[in-house]
Amino acid sequence: MKKRYDELIDLINDASYKYYVLDNPTITDQEYDDYYNELLNIEKKYPELKRDDSPTNRVGGDVLEKFEKVTHQNPMLSFDDIFNEDEIVLFDERIRKTVKNPEYTLEPKMDGLSGSLIYKNGVLVRGATRGDGVVGENITNNVKTIKSIPLKLTENIDIEVRGEIYMSKASFEKANEERKKQKESLFANPRNAAAGSVRQLDSKVTASRNLDFMAYFIPNPEDYGLKTQEESLNYLRKLGFVTNYKLNSLAHNVGEIIDHIAYLGSIRKSLPYEIDGVVLKVNSLLDEQKLGFTSRVPRWGIAYKFPAEEVLTTIEDIKFTVGRTGKITPNAVFNPVHVAGSLISRATLHNEDYCLEKDVRIGDIVSIRKAGDVIPEVVEVKLDRRKEDSKPFKMTDVCPMCNTKLIKKDAHHFCPNNHCPARNVEKLIHFASRDAMWIDGFGENVLEDFYNMGFIKEFSDFYHLADYKDELMSMEGFGEKSINNLLEASLRSKNNSLERLVFALGIRYVGSKKSKILAKKFKNMDNLIKADFETLENMDEIGPKIASSIVSYFQDEENLNQIAKLKEIGLNMEYLGSSDSSLFDGKTFVLTGTLPTLTREEATKMIEDNGGKVSSSVSHKTDYVLLGENPGSKYDKAIELGIVIINEDGFKELLS
Ligand code: IVH
Repeated sequence: MKKRYDELIDLINDASYKYYVLDNPTITDQEYDDYYNELLNIEKKYPELKRDDSPTNRVGGDVLEKFEKVTHQNPMLSFDDIFNEDEIVLFDERIRKTVKNPEYTLEPKMDGLSGSLIYKNGVLVRGATRGDGVVGENITNNVKTIKSIPLKLTENIDIEVRGEIYMSKASFEKANEERKKQKESLFANPRNAAAGSVRQLDSKVTASRNLDFMAYFIPNPEDYGLKTQEESLNYLRKLGFVTNYKLNSLAHNVGEIIDHIAYLGSIRKSLPYEIDGVVLKVNSLLDEQKLGFTSRVPRWGIAYKFPAEEVLTTIEDIKFTVGRTGKITPNAVFNPVHVAGSLISRATLHNEDYCLEKDVRIGDIVSIRKAGDVIPEVVEVKLDRRKEDSKPFKMTDVCPMCNTKLIKKDAHHFCPNNHCPARNVEKLIHFASRDAMWIDGFGENVLEDFYNMGFIKEFSDFYHLADYKDELMSMEGFGEKSINNLLEASLRSKNNSLERLVFALGIRYVGSKKSKILAKKFKNMDNLIKADFETLENMDEIGPKIASSIVSYFQDEENLNQIAKLKEIGLNMEYLGSSDSSLFDGKTFVLTGTLPTLTREEATKMIEDNGGKVSSSVSHKTDYVLLGENPGSKYDKAIELGIVIINEDGFKELLS
């Protein structure tokens, strides 16, 4: 019986290893359950056989009176935090004073709490919280319930392993649903939930919360013949721990560090768990030893923290704005706060229903976050901190710009005045925006200024700016260079393919995707203007609502007049069919030197036709430097920042 018992433990441990560590399950859930139940039955019948590393320990059981204090074998330190690129540069400079060509490991900074696990002869004997770094709490019973923590390693060694105990987003949602049902207060975030769950005296409660563990550190790695942090991570995985092997990476300079941070930032939302930054560690353990420690923290690593996603602030005012379709939006106005990397002082409150449902009021303390990382919104009103004399929200019934009485359609209020000045600025901003005509440099503020000064009142005015060049240059904040850039950008936009112009017109319900479909079908503006309701409605993906919006847009004399002016100026009105490629979407190129066969204009067009952008100077935001003969200082800068440098052949290869 003992033989079968040991065999079952091996089978189950092996299945867990393949499932959690290798991401490659080899047995079915049913088979797993069968082994597990067989094991449970043997333990019931022959309790004397029960091993400490039996997977049946994972359900929890013993209820403690309090947690025993334990002293860490090695102090559990953490890293200093940094928050921006400049601090990364400083960190790298500091390291380079001691280490010649440093190599760094970059690891997602798991947002949970750190834990220490001690194995004797390959068996988990103790789990502890960090506590104050010197003394922590013994949470052995609880860590045993965490399925991604091996109870037995693949080697019978003595070792301490550090890592993050965390709760996945899915388990967090589930835990909160459960708490809602039980009318208990909700966990604010997965980190709090993990911390609360791991410090439960009843390990059954911990087991029910479905925590996870990600291993990232071995104290005294040289004892195991390891030479780098990378080797430590590989060894941890071999021993049976889950590591972040798919997302960990190596970097050799600030450019590579920033790239990987940007990458992790971009996939952050889609990860099944929360990360709050990126941990940088010098890879070579020899170098780590050279760098040593300050009185508080290791010098060989640092924690880059992503900008805070949700911030508390007080609503100073609620202001109404008018969009380009005349839609009225209530906005919360507050003192500027940093959210997700930018300074914001306004957040959308969407519409009347949203305000009433959330019961937002001037003077309320609210949490703000960026929705879809662009428009900030009010997430939650802290009702318990509301002032007694606050007054309920009231929707305006007239347009804040032109005083016209509003009309209500579905959940939204609209200003019915087609010539409302607020609508005009919004229309112009949309016209110049990235997915529309992409006239670089015309952000919201510049356009508002140009509108108020009377330089740009309608679409065609973008193309007459050269007439006022001297006047524009005398405006505060503009010099010859910036004005030339604006002029060049508008000139370039004249050649855009039809779909950009269609989108830029701002026809209601016609987004950039529908614009492409329309441009492809009708080939030029005249055909589109003439298209009747039936033809439009019968197109895939168009339907009656959009069709009628298009027809009524082109029935408006004023709209036709605007289009005629653009045509007269020489704007392209044909579908060119080439800007479909998204090969370089979101990528920025800088050109330097003379290319062997392509002119600068040709290369620029090829980049833009494939969704990319050409910028005049090299920065961390540059993705590629396209290098020709006799390059300028841009080349040096690209090397310094570690930007990818390609020549014309390489460029053509990218395109092929
Ligand atoms: S290494 C000596 N690696 O972030 C420092 N920490 O200051 C050993 N964390 O408190 C920690 N992910 O709880 C390390 N891949 C990772 C991490 C990580 C999250 C936490 C850890 C620590 C803080 C870093």
